[in-house]
Amino acid sequence: MSDDVIKLETVKIERDGGTTFVILNRPEKRNAMSPQLHNDMCDALDWAAEDDQTKVVVITGAGGNFCAGQDLKLFFRANDGNPKAMRRAGLASQAWRWDKLSRFPKATIAMVHGYCFGGGFTPVIACDFAIAADDATFGLSEVNWGIIPGGLVAWAVTQILGYRDAMYYSVTGDKFNGAEAAAMKFVNKAVPVTNLREATMELARKLEAKSPAAVRYTKEAVRSVRGMSQDQAMDYLHCKSDALKFIDPEKGREKAMKQFLDEKVFKPGLGEFKR
Ligand code: COA
Repeated sequence: MSDDVIKLETVKIERDGGTTFVILNRPEKRNAMSPQLHNDMCDALDWAAEDDQTKVVVITGAGGNFCAGQDLKLFFRANDGNPKAMRRAGLASQAWRWDKLSRFPKATIAMVHGYCFGGGFTPVIACDFAIAADDATFGLSEVNWGIIPGGLVAWAVTQILGYRDAMYYSVTGDKFNGAEAAAMKFVNKAVPVTNLREATMELARKLEAKSPAAVRYTKEAVRSVRGMSQDQAMDYLHCKSDALKFIDPEKGREKAMKQFLDEKVFKPGLGEFKR
């Protein structure tokens, strides 16, 4: 691990070239999310967004599990009767799991192994990509202890699953494994747990090699157009394309055009231009 990374109480940062692992680090509690962990994740993501070496962020959990959801003791019970503390914890929880992650300026991958319950679903959905161990265990367990998938979980789940699956797993609390998650397209793919890191890094390296500005603008475009009408999308995508041409420090479009049309050294259909 390099020394130049941010040090946090409940979140560990590790580098692998241009990919930065942001690791929920309460393994003895199956990485259940305490208010401290929410604050640490906010700091970790803010740091990674500005870190020049980081091109791709992988969110995962220490100790063989992704996340056992909100910490029932420290997030819920400790804040019962303390609306101000609850509000603070809720805001931090929402900020990293959805606001910061879904708008993150670099590519993000959730690497899921072991348990992923309740509030742990939100960051998986907020990431651009997700890869799971085929024996990972997913569950919307809220109904099992008498609450709803709140804090945006139910909404996030309906953004990614079909209505029948979203309803079924929310209301029954039934678990599903990584292979089933891949079949439902909840994750991009599932692999044997022994290959999880390798499969994640294969995707990460592919993303690292691409133009950062093109990756950022493309992911923002795909996310944003989902809620738009065709007219809005046309207008927005025109503006977004113009903005990319203007802001791209690498001037990728011009470079790629020259390499394809004049120098004939690359084929856009088969791979990226030489940066
Ligand atoms: N909140 C608080 N503590 C949690 C937790 C959670 N969500 N999930 C696990 N822990 C704690 C346990 O209380 C235990 O603490 P202890 O060692 O001080 O007793 C420790 O983590 C290990 O958990 P344990 O249940 O002994 O491990 P396990 O491997 O047998 O089972 C789970 C793991 C995740 C299946 C089980 O802990 C569980 O069902 N957790 C709740 C999951 C959930 O419903 N989350 C949704 C919240 S929105």
